[in-house]
Amino acid sequence: MNANHIGQPHARVDGRAKVTGNAQYAADFNQPGQAYAVIVGASIGLGRVVGLDTEAARRLAGVLAVLTHENAPKLAYAAHKGFIDPQHGERLHVLQDDRVRFYGQPVAVVVAQTLDQAEHAACLLRIRYAEESPVSDPLDKRAQAVVPEAGREPGPHSADRVRGDPEAAFAAAAVRIDAAYDAARENHLPIEPNATVAAWEGERLTLWSKSQFVVNEQAEIAAILGIPAENVHVVCPFIGGAFGTSLRTWPHVTLAAVAAREVGRPVKLVLSRRQTFHLTGHRPRTVQRVALSATPDGRLTGIVHEGTGETSRYEQFAEALTSVTPFLYSCPNVRTRYRLVPLDISTPTYMRAPGEATGVFALECAMDELAHALGMDPLELRRRNEPRLDEGMQLPFSSRSMLACYERGADAFGWARRTLAPGSMRDGRLRIGWGMACASYPAFHGQASARVRLLADGTAEVEAAASDMGPGTYTSITQIAAETLGLPMDSVRFSLGRSDFPPTPPHGGSMTLASVGSAVRAACTAALDQRQARAGRPDGAIEASATAGPDAEVRSRFSMHAFGAVFVEVAIDPDVGTIRVRRVVGAYGAGRIVNPRLAASQCTGGMVGGIGMALMERTALDPRDGRPVNAHMADYLVPVNLDIQALEAHFVDEVDPHVNELGVKGLGEIALVGVAPAVANAVFHATGKRVRELPIRIEHLVEP
Ligand code: MOS
Repeated sequence: MNANHIGQPHARVDGRAKVTGNAQYAADFNQPGQAYAVIVGASIGLGRVVGLDTEAARRLAGVLAVLTHENAPKLAYAAHKGFIDPQHGERLHVLQDDRVRFYGQPVAVVVAQTLDQAEHAACLLRIRYAEESPVSDPLDKRAQAVVPEAGREPGPHSADRVRGDPEAAFAAAAVRIDAAYDAARENHLPIEPNATVAAWEGERLTLWSKSQFVVNEQAEIAAILGIPAENVHVVCPFIGGAFGTSLRTWPHVTLAAVAAREVGRPVKLVLSRRQTFHLTGHRPRTVQRVALSATPDGRLTGIVHEGTGETSRYEQFAEALTSVTPFLYSCPNVRTRYRLVPLDISTPTYMRAPGEATGVFALECAMDELAHALGMDPLELRRRNEPRLDEGMQLPFSSRSMLACYERGADAFGWARRTLAPGSMRDGRLRIGWGMACASYPAFHGQASARVRLLADGTAEVEAAASDMGPGTYTSITQIAAETLGLPMDSVRFSLGRSDFPPTPPHGGSMTLASVGSAVRAACTAALDQRQARAGRPDGAIEASATAGPDAEVRSRFSMHAFGAVFVEVAIDPDVGTIRVRRVVGAYGAGRIVNPRLAASQCTGGMVGGIGMALMERTALDPRDGRPVNAHMADYLVPVNLDIQALEAHFVDEVDPHVNELGVKGLGEIALVGVAPAVANAVFHATGKRVRELPIRIEHLVEP
């Protein structure tokens, strides 16, 4: 029987649990006798703690412990580099010394019987500092760019790449543009704050903890505490949005575990919204330069893309800032350069389309500037530079549907009705702008395992350590299992988010469906084989496990990416400079779409994030101490319902026989890529004003 679930727009299998409040997020878990921990962060940006007066806090009713570097246990901090940890540098060793490396770094943790008592006691700590002068702005004269250690090897984070001679191409070019772009530091700002409930039973530790990577959290905490990994168990069935902020195991998880051990009771630790801004990573601020040259008929002759991202002083967080540039277009002369600026800030981290979102912003705005310099339609310019292969890797694409995306998106948007001259489209007194940009993101695939049980009642249970931060993993994996087993959807129960389930790669990099889906398919096939082998004999339950991973040989022969094209309409009030995004149309070639309803939801969600990136999101730091000044939801602006109008996602038919057995490329990140530059390009088309800084704000448009 073929149940034919793949490709169907099934509703979320976890939808009812979520809307009825039955889905449990980390902070929803409670343990008997549980105490509450509150982190006290440094109120300086750099220096040392020289005096700690904890007496008043300790005397307060209900206070169980006040931990500082003076009395906290010395922790093992054994070497452990998870898949998502910066390869160069060393993670923060929390409460291990008197040094303050960034504003808000934990300098104490207060544990009390109630949250109120813990918060009150936290206010009573008196901490004296020897303050030094921090550097928190990459454009500060004292800041120095370095070659990223992680970027020396060829790969997505390469420091330098070159083919041909772009400078010679520029010298000879008929048309040339050269521009600098600045994209703000952003925070992930999921609705669910990071939280951990830690409970010890003898030597065994259980963590109910917000995590996109429970098997890594298990390994990381075991390494930090110096205990066997099998003594640590991590549980995370639901995630209220994350976008990368819960890939790493941040110091609050360690503090919850240590606090629970110290007071001999379970401890709940929930970060305040403010604390999430500096204790759980951020998208690094980037400054970039893109220079392009072309023939008069719009063939690219040279590309230079130089980008610099901020990092902390204790780790080098490198991301894929220039990685799309070598293959997005056909061009004989291309140079990319990537640098990092270490600052007195906490380490940045992956945030949805880490690197690509900001790198493609610069490249795609530059393409729009080139189109304007050529007097050419920006979509036509891109069509003329469509490559036949990945010219950076000199490999064919496993599949590339960019031209189909251009056509589908432009048709749906009505791009043919666009008039070329900036400022030429109006709606009454409003200036209308139509802009577009490309999107691209690698089709990653990581090794994953899964387990399947076929039960006597005809239903099946499927398990993998995976996470679901919102894309619909519960549902799409259930579809794959149900289809493979030939069962109805409601006969399959898929469980995830436990470190004692079969291991999976990080729930990030848009690789969950390809990776976990392939493992689940393999495990289901193994279970069916087992049942067949037993045919005729009375049962016992059937249980099968399988591990599936990328085919390295195939991956060495192809360049594998999803592609897309994003079209945006803005309406701008010329008197007050307000920008409204009226429409976004995205067309994507992302391989097989397992669930078109959830896929569209992913993409429209990415558009909302992209509108935020384009027009609102910016974590502003106080230059005196590097403190995020708008670290709350009133002043860190994100789009709300009134900011969002028509959003449309289209998927072109794409069959990719190479990328993985399921033929899926992933959608989580590409949904964000291309949106911000399409908005910026639309703003230019509406006004003739080129804003090269994100977010684009009213003052950019009303100032002369
Ligand atoms: Mo996403 S930055 O891969 O969680």
